[in-house]
Amino acid sequence: MKERFVMKEHNTKLAILSLLAQGGFHSGERLGEHLGISRAAVSKHIKGIQEWGVDIFRVQGKGYQLATPIELLDPKQLEQNLVVPFELIPIIDSTNQYLIEKQDTLPSGAVCLAEYQAAGRGRRGRQWVSPFASNLYLSMYWRLDAGMAAAMGLSLVVGVAIVESLEQQGIHDVKLKWPNDLYYKDKKLAGILVEMSGQAGGAANLVIGMGMNLMMSGEVSAIDQPWTSLAEASDQPLQRNQLAASFANAWYSALKQYEFQGMQGFVERWNQYDNFLNREVKLIMANREIKGIARGIDASGAILLETDEGITPYIGGEISLRGDDR
Ligand code: ATP
Ligand code: BTN
Repeated sequence: MKERFVMKEHNTKLAILSLLAQGGFHSGERLGEHLGISRAAVSKHIKGIQEWGVDIFRVQGKGYQLATPIELLDPKQLEQNLVVPFELIPIIDSTNQYLIEKQDTLPSGAVCLAEYQAAGRGRRGRQWVSPFASNLYLSMYWRLDAGMAAAMGLSLVVGVAIVESLEQQGIHDVKLKWPNDLYYKDKKLAGILVEMSGQAGGAANLVIGMGMNLMMSGEVSAIDQPWTSLAEASDQPLQRNQLAASFANAWYSALKQYEFQGMQGFVERWNQYDNFLNREVKLIMANREIKGIARGIDASGAILLETDEGITPYIGGEISLRGDDR
């Protein structure tokens, strides 16, 4: 009962948002009439929408307007462009969590997209800041017959697929940071999170999720590192539906290729986009830090670090790479 009530609340907010997304001013009275609720109720919902991270302002005598135009994710457009099955759940806790819970019913390639995540997460339980409609939150379920050992490579493979897809769309200079981030001009643009949702026989059930900032703005106190948005890298207005579909389709073909060929087909491509190639970096591990020069990845997906002792591969989920100046 509670869940149904919450859903209904969301539906009213989403209906207000789709009216505002058409552009221009919308009076509280008209919005109320349209939705069969009072002006006071409209105003309460607007506050709730603002808490999702949407910038709405009100001008006396005119009504409400979005501070920046938004393109909402649209199931029809996604349907036309996606080669994989998908669910669009505008308001969710975490798209990764949703697919993990549904894994038994899903084919490889099934996608979940959201406009807002109340509990978006990064590696090791860190928060992923997920305001409404200014970014992309996209997850895909994949059953990897090669098992857990091959799962480490997934964030690398998916990262390559995203950068190549952006290049094809005329958006250049997005780079990769080992093992799971996308960078633009040395700032974090997107993060990839691979989670295992169980093992059946030798196969691993995996959920791969990406959050990419598209037009996030302002001060975000929860982010303790330099970050940026894709709008900075593009001279054209970004089309969220088209971007989401192109990423999911690119993941699907890259993951298929990974199943057949393993990392082999991806090492050179990853190194081509390495943000830290031949730069001084440090690797931060549970109980030590090592400084050296980054020399790309090897065929197992390990990061190669050159020190006085030579070139050594490092691999494992607990390692973080940083530029040596940070
Ligand atoms: P690592 O190298 O270990 O992956 P990381 O700091 O990038 O380090 P992650 O777990 O990959 O850590 O990502 C989570 C971190 O990303 C958060 O602690 C925060 O600093 C940052 N972050 C959270 N939301 C966003 C966002 N929307 N855009 C950019 N960065 C974000
Ligand atoms: C990271 O940099 O640590 C990875 C961040 C991954 C965020 C995405 S947003 C979609 C999916 N759902 C989540 O809760 N996390 C991932």
